[in-house]
Amino acid sequence: MLIDHLKKTDDRAITKWHHYFQVYEREMGRFLKKPISFLEIGIFKGGSIPMWKDYFPDGSRLTFIDIDPACKAFEIEGTNVRIGNQADPEFLTSLAEELGPFDVVLDDGSHVCAHQIASFESLWQHLTNGGLYMVEDCHTSYWPGFGGGYRNEASFIEYSKRLIDTMHSWYTDQDALFPFQDMARELNSVRFYDSIVAIEKLEQKEPPTSLVSKNGNVEASRRALQVRGRTSVFAGKDGS
Ligand SMILES: C[S@@+](CC[C@H](N)C(=O)[O-])C[C@H]1O[C@@H](n2cnc3c(N)ncnc32)[C@H](O)[C@@H]1O
Repeated sequence: MLIDHLKKTDDRAITKWHHYFQVYEREMGRFLKKPISFLEIGIFKGGSIPMWKDYFPDGSRLTFIDIDPACKAFEIEGTNVRIGNQADPEFLTSLAEELGPFDVVLDDGSHVCAHQIASFESLWQHLTNGGLYMVEDCHTSYWPGFGGGYRNEASFIEYSKRLIDTMHSWYTDQDALFPFQDMARELNSVRFYDSIVAIEKLEQKEPPTSLVSKNGNVEASRRALQVRGRTSVFAGKDGS
C-alpha cells in the first residue's frame, strides 16, 4: 500500500494528510497497469518523489515542479524536476511540450486558489483522454489568506462546483442563462473528497443518449436534449 512508503523514507521529508492515501489508492489505482506520465506540482523536501517512483510502473515519465530552485537537487534517476511558477501559463505550456501530455496531474503546490485555477486552466488541455487532474489541500478554499473564504467565488472549491454545471450543460433548459459549454465534451466527472478534488477527462464527442428497451428492442434517442420548458410527468400526482 502506498501509505507503507512512509516507513521507508529517508531524510527527504514528505508531508501528506493521512486520509489522502486512501483517495490516492482509489483514484490512481487504475493507472498501475502500464507506464504513465505523471506530474506533481510542489516538491518541498523531495520526499514524495521516491514514493511516486515506487508506486507507478517502471518506465513511467515522472515530472515534478516547484518554484524553489533548491528543489532541483531532489531529482533522482528516472524523474524530471523543473523549476517554475505554477501560475505561469508560459512555463506550464513549455513544460507540457517537453514532458506532457500527462495522465495524472497532482497539484500540491502553493495551495493559493488563483494558482490552482491557473494551473488547471493551463494543464487541462495537456491531460490525456482518460486522464485525472487532482488538486489537494483544497481546505485552503475556506481560508481568506489563500484567496478563499466561505462561498468565495474565487476559491478553487467554488470553481470546481461550477465545473459540475459545465458537465451538465448538455441538458440546459435555459439557453440564454446557461448555454452549452464545449468543455462538457471532455469533462467526465468531478469528485469531491475532504480537501481533494479529482477531475476526470474522457472525450465524449457526441451528446449523451437515452436508451429505451422494450421486448428486447433497444432504441437510442437524444430527443430529451432538445426539449425546453419541460415539467415532470408526475406533476400533480406527487403533491407538487
Ligand atoms: C506542500 S509543499 C509540497 C510537498 C510535496 N509534494 C510532498 O508531498 O512532500 C508545497 C511546495 O510548493 C512550492 N510552491 C509554492 N508556490 C509555488 C508556485 N507558485 N509554483 C510552484 N511551486 C510552488 C513550495 O516551494 C513548496 O515546496
